[in-house]
Amino acid sequence: MTDIRDLRNAPAMPGELTDETPAGSTIGDLAKAPGPTKVPAARYTSPEFAALELERLWPHVWQVACTIDHVRDPGDWYEYTCGPLSVLLVRGQDSKLRAFQNVCRHRGNELCAGSGTGMTEIRCNYHRWCWDLSGRLREVPSRKGFGALRNDDYPLFEAQVGTWGPLVFVNLDLDAEPLEEFLSPVIDDAAFLRPDELACRAIVTVPLPCNWKTGIDAFSETYHVQGIHRQMLCSTDDVNSPQADWPRHGKLGQPYGIPSPRLRDGATDDEIWASFVATQGARAGAPDPDNPGPVPERHDGESMRTLLARLIREKSASEGVDLGAFTDEQVTDLHQYNCFPNISPVFLAESLSCIRTRPGTTPDDCYLDIISCPRLPAGATDRGPRPIDVTLDAETADLGAVFNQDIANLRRAQRGLHQLGLTHLTLSREERRIISLHRNLERYLGIQDGFPE
Ligand code: FES
Ligand SMILES: [Fe+2]
Repeated sequence: MTDIRDLRNAPAMPGELTDETPAGSTIGDLAKAPGPTKVPAARYTSPEFAALELERLWPHVWQVACTIDHVRDPGDWYEYTCGPLSVLLVRGQDSKLRAFQNVCRHRGNELCAGSGTGMTEIRCNYHRWCWDLSGRLREVPSRKGFGALRNDDYPLFEAQVGTWGPLVFVNLDLDAEPLEEFLSPVIDDAAFLRPDELACRAIVTVPLPCNWKTGIDAFSETYHVQGIHRQMLCSTDDVNSPQADWPRHGKLGQPYGIPSPRLRDGATDDEIWASFVATQGARAGAPDPDNPGPVPERHDGESMRTLLARLIREKSASEGVDLGAFTDEQVTDLHQYNCFPNISPVFLAESLSCIRTRPGTTPDDCYLDIISCPRLPAGATDRGPRPIDVTLDAETADLGAVFNQDIANLRRAQRGLHQLGLTHLTLSREERRIISLHRNLERYLGIQDGFPE
């Protein structure tokens, strides 16, 4: 096996993304950097690097496991997997949500697979050891054969669990900081989006032939809009969208209803409308992306942006969802967060789509999950039907034009990373949320000055 250090001998040291932004620099320092940031390509392809992530990142970092709608009631359970790691989430009879490593303390059999309801005990199918839903051992068949074996000495291995809005997070490291601290300042920044009013309806999973970072990187910059989503250019400013650079997480605000400054001649209102309908028309009650029709009649003084805000409000109101708490800008625009390491919660006023990538069995495969959470009708006390979780094939999945374009490109993005001449990715300040992912990854992996501690 290649020594991990061999992967990053100069000039390919992961601890030195670029001469201009040495290890330990902040993302804010990028503004002063005269050149691009270089990231070693091996981070995306090397089994040794993936092994380092498995040892030092995934067992210690907060991850979205599922949503509260998957584990609403006592006896509800859900298995979350991340590479070989498996975590069991269970709502106890005391209504408390707990997380456990999904392993039997007898000989290590996996306890549960999938998800379900009505669980009253956690029983291993192999030799039938059994725990209660709080993780306490309560039954061992033929106990005498073990000699002295006390139930209190064999609880399930507990993990930390926390929630933000509808999202349930787990952390296998009992010494890790609380979730609220880890997510700072995202929770406060996103409070205006009222995440507690969102309920999950589905998780769509697409296995993809790319590294988990290749996958989430595609949702961490808008530089590629002019590459693979050109149909968006007439209805969004992909260049000047404001980004936030926090030490661990990031944010993008993407305005809709205005053309990209890349279009020298701008766009007519008809072109803005057609572009909006082609990419997200269902939001405004225009569900056929191929038939935008004319721009809907405008009220006095309405701009394209305020027109879109009104149409989105009307569409949501027709479904009982009141967007009165939001300004027109907040209704029309996209509010995207990038939370280290592997999720991008994408908020619209009427919904949350949390994009997540999880490692697969090799550095060249991952799972892309889209966790869909529409906003509940005003005053709803019932969170609605349970989520439906489906796995779709990348070749045949139809997730809308923009997602389809992202997914179709990811195979190419990963294959290219293997080519011998490409020692480094070359990143722009526009891609600072990707740089931030690498800076934080280095901290978890112990990469300082180019070497793990
Ligand atoms: S491995 Fe679970 S009871 Fe034996
Ligand atoms: Fe994209």
